[in-house]
Amino acid sequence: MKVKVFQDAQSIAEYTADQIQKLMKRKPECVLGLATGSTPVPTYREMIKRYEQGKLDFSQVKTYNLDEYLGLSKENSQSFYYFMWENLFSKINILKENTHLPSGTEADMESYCKVYEKQVEQSGGIDLQLLGIGNNGHIGFNEPEENFSQHVHIVSLTQETIQANKRFFENVQQVPRKAITMGIETIMKAEKIILIATGKAKAKAVYDTISGPVTPWCPASILQRHKDAEILLDLEAAALLK
Ligand code: F6R
Repeated sequence: MKVKVFQDAQSIAEYTADQIQKLMKRKPECVLGLATGSTPVPTYREMIKRYEQGKLDFSQVKTYNLDEYLGLSKENSQSFYYFMWENLFSKINILKENTHLPSGTEADMESYCKVYEKQVEQSGGIDLQLLGIGNNGHIGFNEPEENFSQHVHIVSLTQETIQANKRFFENVQQVPRKAITMGIETIMKAEKIILIATGKAKAKAVYDTISGPVTPWCPASILQRHKDAEILLDLEAAALLK
């Protein structure tokens, strides 16, 4: 696991876009694993800028998102589907059929988890997975728990995550209590992983991820065992590291 500390979120976005640009040059049909939330937004803006400048061509790129709230339709402005179209997909030349997000509105969610796991598998494997991190160390929506999860599955969100995410909703009651997420094993299969953490709310989770033991109580700590994981931090997120 490599740790890099940057001056600010914009420098992280530029570095991450550089990695994506290199990958897309080497492999125009590459597979990107994407995240939602506030953290990747500067990176998505940088990707859009480079697309507009003619430096990035997404026409052959495939994407697979990590997670989605249960019960929110694609049209719901709080859904991750809506977020991805709003913040990235509608602004680049990616083909709709090449974008994949887990659905949170299937009648049989348990069997659907297997369908999404298979889709990710059939992509040929994720070349580069972008991750944010929860204040409690979650990646995707894999919350702290007894064991590391394996495949795509349904999770109950912790109070901490519900509180952290209420900023996107009118009030805390509206935050869905459940979500579908790639499992830890699904995430760990990616060729390369870039985890971005910005802001002081992430400092403790970042410290536990990098300096603590590998434990499912801090799901991101599993990245210590990945062969090519980079942790990109701004100064605030890196504040507790020596
Ligand atoms: C979202 C996801 C989550 C977020 C995490 C941080 O797709 O996978 O793990 O990355 O909750 O969210 P922000 O970036 O909003 O602080």
